[in-house]
Amino acid sequence: MTFTIRVFNTPHDAGIYVASLAEFVIMNKRNPVLGLATGQTPVPFYESLVRLYECGLDLSHVTTINLDEYVGLSAEHPQSYFHFMKSNLFSKTNLSSSCTFVPNGASANLVEECLRYDEILKNYPIDLQILGIGINGHIGFNEPSDTLIAKTHVVELRHETIKSNARFFDSEDQVPKQAITMGIQSILQAKKIVLMAFGTEKSKIIEQVVIGNVSTTIPASILQFHPDVMVILDQDGATDLLKNTDYLDANHLKIK
Ligand code: F6R
Repeated sequence: MTFTIRVFNTPHDAGIYVASLAEFVIMNKRNPVLGLATGQTPVPFYESLVRLYECGLDLSHVTTINLDEYVGLSAEHPQSYFHFMKSNLFSKTNLSSSCTFVPNGASANLVEECLRYDEILKNYPIDLQILGIGINGHIGFNEPSDTLIAKTHVVELRHETIKSNARFFDSEDQVPKQAITMGIQSILQAKKIVLMAFGTEKSKIIEQVVIGNVSTTIPASILQFHPDVMVILDQDGATDLLKNTDYLDANHLKIK
């Protein structure tokens, strides 16, 4: 068990902290590679990273590799993850467009697209992987299942994921049913992983991930096998975990 836990008052405070972790990697690696997530959780992190850029942090030598993309949405679609990345980060910094990778969900050949993405992951080993988590424990779009798939693949999104992500679309019907996602092996190969979770709706799954059994039905629990994972929470996201004070003390988890 190697999770280091930090509980912040607000997602905003957490975002500033995670941006400073990213800055450390960016400043200390010759060719830094960040693995990036989309969704609501990392928004405060991107805001802080953009702020750091505005304050002088150079990102021109940084490579970014995103976890996932909806199948069937072109890069221009307002709900595509590429569009999210462009609005929240790419267009606001000096990241080079030739070094920002997002799976192409509109590819006519998804098998080839998955292979292309694995080749990118092979060429650019990830130094720092940013993760959010689904309420069902998914990371990237590696959904609960009997088997966790190692490499980049096309996944059928689970009903709870479609329902949860409907908040970004006009209606649930519009949420794509499939996505391309980086596989579990690629995530675990990152040198350092930062898992962020905010809000009461993430509190129970975070407790299960951090102190529960490792199971393919909770994909994020496999992070227990990684040697360097930070779990970054706000007070609401930490509620259930922090009830386990005996367990946490016994395992020397660092809180706050
Ligand atoms: C998105 C991704 C997903 C999200 C997760 C949580 O790139 O990889 O695993 O991190 O679905 O989404 P939010 O942050 O919107 O609650």
